[in-house]
Amino acid sequence: YGDYDFIVVSNRLPVDRVSDGGGDSWRRSPGGLVTALAPVMAKADGAWVGWHGAPDETLEAFDHDNMHLRPVPLSASEVELYYEGFSNATLWPLYHDVIAPPEFHRTWWDSYRTVNRRFAEAAAEVAAEGATVWVQDYQLQLVPQLLRRARPDLKIGFFNHIPFPPLEIFAQLPWRKDIIAGLLGADLIGFQRPSDTANFLRCVRRFAGHSVRQQQVHVTGDDGASYVSRAEAFPISIDVNQITELAKREDVIERSKQIRRELGNPKTILLGVDRLDYTKGISHRLKAYGELLEDGRISVEDAALIQVASPSRERVEQYRLLREEVEGTVGRINGTYDTMSNTAIRYLHHSYPVEEMVALYLASDVMLVTALRDGMNLVAKEYVAARTENTGALVLSEFAGAADQLRQAVLVNPHDIDRLKDAIVTATEMPPREAQRRMRLMRRQVLQNDVERWSQTFLNALRLEGEQP
Ligand code: G6P
Repeated sequence: YGDYDFIVVSNRLPVDRVSDGGGDSWRRSPGGLVTALAPVMAKADGAWVGWHGAPDETLEAFDHDNMHLRPVPLSASEVELYYEGFSNATLWPLYHDVIAPPEFHRTWWDSYRTVNRRFAEAAAEVAAEGATVWVQDYQLQLVPQLLRRARPDLKIGFFNHIPFPPLEIFAQLPWRKDIIAGLLGADLIGFQRPSDTANFLRCVRRFAGHSVRQQQVHVTGDDGASYVSRAEAFPISIDVNQITELAKREDVIERSKQIRRELGNPKTILLGVDRLDYTKGISHRLKAYGELLEDGRISVEDAALIQVASPSRERVEQYRLLREEVEGTVGRINGTYDTMSNTAIRYLHHSYPVEEMVALYLASDVMLVTALRDGMNLVAKEYVAARTENTGALVLSEFAGAADQLRQAVLVNPHDIDRLKDAIVTATEMPPREAQRRMRLMRRQVLQNDVERWSQTFLNALRLEGEQP
């Protein structure tokens, strides 16, 4: 047995390597998950198991930020087969409603199994007797079952950050039974939305044949032992304090004003912030915006759209194709509507530090989140948290998990281009009092439900599992 009482397992470790002249050091990566869990780790003797991001490199375990970090090595070929292949060209498109066609390759699956075994072994090594292990996301769905077999003493949680697809789509997966059995190794399986939970439970009934009562699955393992695994929705959130504090900082506010000035102080700044991913509906958004310019309902003199598209999974074919498409569309729209002094769309293929993101949120009157499918979409919640004066409007896809919480957004089906255009105009022209009423309600929601509350709710529920009669 290992030494640690609380273990998080995720594909990536929560640190980035910074290479300065004197050698390498590590910095905590941005994102709510690590912010929420770092304090739990510091209190409970915690360890984090994950890949450190460099192929073909084995690293010793090390301590950072009051956390024990246990790097899991991946070979270059595993990065290709397990990460780019099975995780991001099979599961990712399959779980996002087959917006892009998933590919099924037995070599990818073999690698996924091998790598999941390695993560499970690493977690089993560091876990003390009776420890709690929390496995994160679709890259590691076999880990719960593998861990339970190796270490029946552990309390195992799993959280899926992306959607869980409807049975009719999940059924395509040649390894559907293995995935369901893998997940059912967990005592508690968390999803973003109640609809994801319902999809999962239907798949359990169909492909595992266990009895399901309410959200409880009565599982009989290969060894004949039986236990209860429960599924429930726990919508994730953001580090509210970090965003609101930045939104009040003098230099960030000054930077937001500078952004507005640099754009020529247009009446309306619209903003899109996404990983460059086909699930985000960037093409639909650009199409709608281009048509609004063509119809004259929006003009380059009055409005500017900033589209941040941070580079992502660039070696995966579908992501390359998307980049070409998006950049072609932006080029055509700008070529058609730009003037010497105005640009229709500022397209930024970069990732930015959180300070700059908050400055962008503050600078923007309208935020556009038009995902075709999204587990949650934390950008929508960050925008709301940053609007400390209760101004601004959010256009939000009903296909993002955040739509369950942010009911006062201008909700839209992004496939319906005419309604999407109307939604953008509605948000742009929303009377200030109406915008404030909506933003106040959305801010209340987000401020009361930050990521720390999310992790505590999940971990409390996990603690109670198995303790009830
Ligand atoms: C989504 C997934 C995460 C993933 C992130 C970035 O949010 O749910 O598991 O880490 O995208 O993608 P990447 O492939 O770069 O880790």
